[in-house]
Amino acid sequence: VISFFQPKLLLGQQVLVTAGPTYEAIDPVRGITNLSSGKMGFAIARAAHEAGAAVTLVAGPVHLPTPRGVHRVNVTSAQNMLAAAVDYAQKATIFVATAAVADWRPALAAEQKIKKDGSGVVPTLSFVENPDILATLAQSLRAQSGDLFCVGFAAESQDLLANAQAKRLRKGVPLLVGNIGPATFGQDDNALLLVQASGVQELARESKINLARKLIAHISIKTRARGQ
Ligand code: CTP
Ligand code: CA
Repeated sequence: VISFFQPKLLLGQQVLVTAGPTYEAIDPVRGITNLSSGKMGFAIARAAHEAGAAVTLVAGPVHLPTPRGVHRVNVTSAQNMLAAAVDYAQKATIFVATAAVADWRPALAAEQKIKKDGSGVVPTLSFVENPDILATLAQSLRAQSGDLFCVGFAAESQDLLANAQAKRLRKGVPLLVGNIGPATFGQDDNALLLVQASGVQELARESKINLARKLIAHISIKTRARGQ
């Protein structure tokens, strides 16, 4: 009902959202993941659709219903997520990276289930770093030429402002959104810190869908100012 009255702030825009955790296989029956619920990313996808955008939601393994009108692409690993994101970013005008991408994956996933051999010896896992999806797309030609507006998220356990400012510069994005603690994983509300070159703005604690709508309104102003 609310969406009926909302102005279509993102009409003509193509929005790409990554959401949820990734799952990095150790063997065919085990893997490494994290507690991301995907709720913030799904709320942003929903809000972007309400605002008139064509929305693709690249989702890691989460049990959430697909927001109405949103094109959902399910992925598992960070490498899968990167491939899907790079694909859809060719046409996207806005990219919002909310996914909690696993920073590392097992260097070699075993082809068969790893078995106990009875000796009590434990397996050793070695890791390699996963690709940085946000940094990759932020460095793309379309982002650099202003055709793709990239937004990052950050959940920090300490020094949110300083870490978010540093992360914004490191990722090379115009807008980095910090989750204001305590840890928001799985909860239905959140509070956000919008960090840009021009300064910092806080969105006070409320439901993730309302925050998502405010963030979308903010992004629509930024992308219009940029001349789209
Ligand atoms: N991100 C990504 N690909 C990765 C890691 C992170 O796209 N391999 C994106 C996240 O979706 C988020 C932003 O980058 O939008 C910041 O993620 P975060 O985990 O906070 O940053 P990292 O660079 O991984 O640094 P660290 O976890 O060490 O704080
Ligand atoms: Ca990380």
